[in-house]
Amino acid sequence: MISIEVIRKPILADLEAFDNFVADNFSAEGEMLQDMLTYALSSRGKGVRPILTMLAASMCGSTATTDDEQCGRERHCSKRTYLAAMLVEMIHTASLIHDDVLDGADERRGKPSVNAKWQSDTAIILGDYILARTMSLGMASAQYDLVSYVGSAMATLCEGEVLQSQHANRFDTTRNDYFDIIYRKTASLLGVAAALGALSVGASREEVDRMRKFGEAIGMAFQIQDDILDYNRQNNTGKPVNNDLREHKITLPLIEVMERETAERRAEIVASLRRCDVDEAAVDELQRVVDEGRGAEFASETMHAYLSRAMHLLAKYPESPYRAALMNLCTFIAERDK
Ligand code: FPP
Ligand code: MG
Repeated sequence: MISIEVIRKPILADLEAFDNFVADNFSAEGEMLQDMLTYALSSRGKGVRPILTMLAASMCGSTATTDDEQCGRERHCSKRTYLAAMLVEMIHTASLIHDDVLDGADERRGKPSVNAKWQSDTAIILGDYILARTMSLGMASAQYDLVSYVGSAMATLCEGEVLQSQHANRFDTTRNDYFDIIYRKTASLLGVAAALGALSVGASREEVDRMRKFGEAIGMAFQIQDDILDYNRQNNTGKPVNNDLREHKITLPLIEVMERETAERRAEIVASLRRCDVDEAAVDELQRVVDEGRGAEFASETMHAYLSRAMHLLAKYPESPYRAALMNLCTFIAERDK
């Protein structure tokens, strides 16, 4: 089983320097805002996006290193790469704060969500504040090529979120709708994370595009695995299981089962789904439907197809510890239970 620590290893000093870079850039006026910001920054997740940006930068760029006096290890990335990683990571952080408000979620990564701790209206302002600070830091850096990518990524995330809620209200998500939603809400930003890594080290247009495709492919796989884990009652995500059903979200494991059912049976499944926000028996019933129809196994086949595409794109690069770590990231996405 591949651990995230193994993937982080070739860029460990950079990841430490990156955390300091973020802490130095993100501070707020006012005690309450600062407390909320500190909470949001200290509750960040595995850091898949900054890892992706820094590994892509290290793989595509020169291997010049700097000794890090503080931790005694070698750093490979420049401040421009840290800025690229920060822009992406902070947009992601803000989007999850807003997402928990929209979903009415009380927990994120096993801890109270910002809205549970400080109420939804304040959480929205914190998300807005993080977005505003992120864009203002980007503009102040005058690295407009990086900023323009993240500006359009923000718009795509919003499109994905609106599309998702439209379908959740209509109970009519098809396979194609699902792929469109997860491309916009997750894959697009992972694509930008990888592309900006390449762009930050002056890679060619072709390489930037290739890394974007790589990030998008692992992003699709990442979200499919997230949706599979939502049906796994033994998962370690720190999020309550079956939340997608309670939020009326039709995701790939359920789509796989519905596509194999008759129209009549599909209508019964939708009728149960309509009750999932208020009726735990309906949630249990649909969990059973997905288990018996092997929805997670079928969804996992699609996830592996995206990961094969991603690995195929990496095969174009010469062997290096960074390419190996990106290969391991693909395996980690498939194996993860949190
Ligand atoms: C998590 O999905 C949510 C996202 C990946 C995107 C959320 C985007 C917005 C709320 C639009 C606002 C955008 C910006 C830039 C502020 P999920 O609910 O399926 O996953 P979860 O189970 O982790 O909550
Ligand atoms: Mg959510």
